[in-house]
Amino acid sequence: MYDIEKIRADFPILSREVNGKPLVYLDNGASAQKPQVVIDAVTRGYAEEYANVHRGLHYLSNLATEKYEGVRGTIARFLGVKDENEIVFTSGTTEAINLVSYAWAAPRMGPGDEIILSAAEHHANIIPWHFLRERLGVKLVWVDLDANDEIDPEAVLSAITPKTKLIAVTHMSNVLGTVVDVKTIVAGAHEQGVPVLVDGSQATVHMPVNLDELGADFYAITGHKLYGPSGSGAIHIRKDRLAEMQPFLGGGDMIRDVGREEVTYADAPMKFEAGTPGIVQQIGLGVALEYLMELGMENVAAHERRLRDYARTKLDGLNWLNIQGNSATKGAIFSFTLEGAAHPHDISTVLDKRGVAVRAGHHCAQPLMDVLGVSATCRASFGLYNTQAEVDTLVDALELCHELFA
Ligand code: ALA
Repeated sequence: MYDIEKIRADFPILSREVNGKPLVYLDNGASAQKPQVVIDAVTRGYAEEYANVHRGLHYLSNLATEKYEGVRGTIARFLGVKDENEIVFTSGTTEAINLVSYAWAAPRMGPGDEIILSAAEHHANIIPWHFLRERLGVKLVWVDLDANDEIDPEAVLSAITPKTKLIAVTHMSNVLGTVVDVKTIVAGAHEQGVPVLVDGSQATVHMPVNLDELGADFYAITGHKLYGPSGSGAIHIRKDRLAEMQPFLGGGDMIRDVGREEVTYADAPMKFEAGTPGIVQQIGLGVALEYLMELGMENVAAHERRLRDYARTKLDGLNWLNIQGNSATKGAIFSFTLEGAAHPHDISTVLDKRGVAVRAGHHCAQPLMDVLGVSATCRASFGLYNTQAEVDTLVDALELCHELFA
């Protein structure tokens, strides 16, 4: 049974007030709150178990290394990956996609080569490819939303040409919550010899993901949305792609031998992990993923489906609210604007006075804002600890906005 009150008690911040009202945290798409077990792991990591990893032979260094390296296996288990050496630690999805851009894509792309992107991408899965457009003359090919506000896998596949070198696509829109059928995209792309990178930042938070079944070449995740510390994350890179990659950042920990005239590198994944990493952050991420696996991602997904359906019914009842993106496959993420003059920033300020935290702005997805014909939206993004009562509070606060701004 999904005991929501027990789960909420695991997250200390949820019992605080904001502006004199109980906190209703609906900004999970931006970053999720942390359960006590993660907070304890971070505190313990610094208070009792801290030293640098891979470097010392002393007790604390060995202990920190063991805990830190253990997280690779935890991430592999969470993602259904068989070989934990295909997991490269990063500070989050942004670093992960930049890694692929610099270490895999740049050395094998030139003028006129094409990268297919969807119009629903977050800037983290756009700007690293713009770098290649600016620096190498690579062409970015955009696939728009279809009439159902979805990314049609067939539209992505039919954009493939002999020049296509990569498809880079989100698994779930951070703005609309739309889930993309990346399995069909990967299967069709591979038939034509095209690799696929998937931005899993949002999808992994809301549903079970099995990369063994998905088969993507690159799959990035970010810890702070997965109820773990900020600065933690990883990318799964299939072994054959790892073998094709040149190192990106150079420094300590990624080498085998360094001389004046030559250098040899460590094996992957460490070859791509230069410098002192986010030791305690990754340890905290491991604990967060254990927490999620204990709850069961199927159960989290079922809870959020119920919330989504309840929120959709309630929000659909507000006929002055424009909900963006109405895909049947969407998760519990709602972007909206209010009819009339109210700017999303004003709406979010009024909601905040009622204790309701949402994000307002372009959500790091300006090409999607262009498609939607708006410069900004308000976004309520739900997480595993949200309740139907919180949907009601959101709706009450929106009604207040309507009264104020109509
Ligand atoms: N990617 C985060 C969001 O969607 C920051 O808000």
